[in-house]
Amino acid sequence: MDKTSIHGMWSSRMMFVLAAAGSAVGLGNIWRFPYLASDNGGGAFVLVYLGCIAVVGLPILIAEVLIGRHGRMSPINTLRKITRDQGSSRGWVGIGWLGIAAGILILSFYSVVGGWTLHYAWLYLKQLLGGAPLGDPALVFQSLLSNPLELTFWHAVFMLLTTAVVALGVEKGLERAVRYLMPALLVLLLLLVVYGFTTGRMADAATFLFRPDFSRINGGVLLSAMGQAFFTLSLGMATMMTYGAYLPRDGISIPRVVTVVALTDTSIALLAGLAIFPIVIAFGLDPAGGGPGLIFNSLPLAFKAMPFGTVYGLLFFGLLAIAAWTSSISLLEPGTAYLAEKRGLQRRKGSALLLAGISWVIGLLSVLSLNVWSDVKVPAGINVLGGKNIMDIVEFLANDLMLPLGGLLIALFAGWVLSRTVLREQLSEMPEWLFNTLRWTLRIVAPLLVLVVLVQVVS
Ligand code: PHE
Repeated sequence: MDKTSIHGMWSSRMMFVLAAAGSAVGLGNIWRFPYLASDNGGGAFVLVYLGCIAVVGLPILIAEVLIGRHGRMSPINTLRKITRDQGSSRGWVGIGWLGIAAGILILSFYSVVGGWTLHYAWLYLKQLLGGAPLGDPALVFQSLLSNPLELTFWHAVFMLLTTAVVALGVEKGLERAVRYLMPALLVLLLLLVVYGFTTGRMADAATFLFRPDFSRINGGVLLSAMGQAFFTLSLGMATMMTYGAYLPRDGISIPRVVTVVALTDTSIALLAGLAIFPIVIAFGLDPAGGGPGLIFNSLPLAFKAMPFGTVYGLLFFGLLAIAAWTSSISLLEPGTAYLAEKRGLQRRKGSALLLAGISWVIGLLSVLSLNVWSDVKVPAGINVLGGKNIMDIVEFLANDLMLPLGGLLIALFAGWVLSRTVLREQLSEMPEWLFNTLRWTLRIVAPLLVLVVLVQVVS
């Protein structure tokens, strides 16, 4: 096994945890998790989501990181190297291609939503500097969505920020962004949860989020929950494989560091739920069916009502933009690392720019589907696609199909193709029984569960 990666290395175990948590914690936790819970019946969705994280997500996360640390290259070349060394089918390299494609696709709409957060941070900044207070939140959000130029502008700003960090490379770029800002976001979220208590509606929020109504569980809910589990852990698209490639070997136990990452990610999603739903309920909004606008329609109501709300709004959306940023760089990194290996390391900057450009153009489809093409929808009731606009379809394809499929293949690869010796060497700190449990989870349990969910939706 190579000791280091040509792209650079995380300077410590802590840096890996911060970077991986930076990737995992993002819009998925604070924007997507609450609105999916809202749209999919609350507790039932949350329960399936937590189950997927524990049984499918965590084992695959371990597998991804260790494959990366063993190969030390971009996902495609890591898989090439392993299949060559072991004489196994080259077909497995497809996991790398699938992952890079999913990353570009996800980044396309992720950057659009990242742009929304920048826009809101900007609105609060203007207000703080003496501008007029924000009007009715629902109207503010609607007027943003109906303005393609404004959306495109912020989408471009967000994409440029992402490109800049990735172009600078691992040590100079990625590490700096995550060191202080993630803890700051956590503090702010906790303060919002405290505010949630003062509204007196925390109990209702907790009931909505944690009391499962099993009659609400159907194929669509299962698929959304599983897709979200992959999305929120940055799983199934070789991001974590790439971050694993930069992880030092000595004395670092992958299961341990990765568990910290998964726990952090899950706690932040749940905290976001506990911050947002009391506000939603207290201000008379419907907790069910909030859709992608949920946080933008609800949180500004609280910021209006609370003392120093403007400062709060600025800090909240500013830090959310930064959390999104530390995730978006991890969407761009796998493809950039591959192109840089192919075209020469000195061409990292150009590679990042090229891929970001492609993703930005695809993102324009999402921008337009919010306004000019808002009527272009799959007819309702057709199947899981019914009622979806273009942005929804891109999201569905990438999050709910490509990520679980990628994860399924990674589990099979780690369980059946990677030699037991390599697996054991990467997990040398694990007790034998736990190692065997993990291996059989990767071989049978996780792939089967993912398959069952995928198949029952298609059929
Ligand atoms: N995990 C990120 C979030 O929750 C999104 C992401 C998905 C990042 C896949 C990288 C890879 O916001």
